[in-house]
Amino acid sequence: MARKFFVGGNWKCNGTIEEVKKIVATLNAGEATASNVEVVVSPPFVFIPLVKELLRPDFQVAAQNCWVKKGGAYTGEISAEMLVNLDIPWVILGHSERRSLLNESNEFVGDKTAYALSKGLKVIACVGETLEQREAGSTMEVVAAQTKAIADKVTNWANVVLAYEPVWAIGTGKVATPAQAQEVHFELRKWLAANVSAEVAETTRLIYGGSVNGANCKELAGQPDVDGFLVGGASLKPEFIDIINCAS
Ligand code: G3P
Repeated sequence: MARKFFVGGNWKCNGTIEEVKKIVATLNAGEATASNVEVVVSPPFVFIPLVKELLRPDFQVAAQNCWVKKGGAYTGEISAEMLVNLDIPWVILGHSERRSLLNESNEFVGDKTAYALSKGLKVIACVGETLEQREAGSTMEVVAAQTKAIADKVTNWANVVLAYEPVWAIGTGKVATPAQAQEVHFELRKWLAANVSAEVAETTRLIYGGSVNGANCKELAGQPDVDGFLVGGASLKPEFIDIINCAS
């Protein structure tokens, strides 16, 4: 079965009401010619209701994070139950910025992923190595450990998309080459086949993130194990539509 191409837009901590309305208007007006693409945009929490209200019905909304268990005395956190209550289907978990800035461990990301899935959310789970780790030759060791921590807690992979985001490519303009992306995606799929199942390896979408833009997306999308993208900066611009269409 062909894996449906997936393009996520991670808006990160950006926007005002006016800017969000402009971005959504641009997306709504965009000619998304590629028919077989799943598109998910992820605004900051405070803009989720507004984006959900205004966004075209063929695009979905994701939160950029959620708490690891049922809500309660966890000041500042947003629970999976709240996202479900808001009818938000997706959540990004384990983003490298949260792993580094907020010390989210592999195990914590695994627990978050399992809890979000248990509440019916779909998860974009992020993995990726730092430049030091790549230069030390430990890319696959790091990415496999991050993936294992998720696989140890996940029983149903149908609602998981795995995002490989090399930290050294995020926000730097230094996009991974198609060969670099394909190599890690190929090894990741091999890891899933060996440690989860052949079916999960075959059906799970492995998407690439890190300085994807309208100019480099086509070649990346042409790689056999690149099933889409998780886009940061370029998802705030009209070229996000070009990235969506590069699958066609
Ligand atoms: O989650 C996607 C993000 O980390 C990639 O950011 O700006 O390099 O596309 P950017």
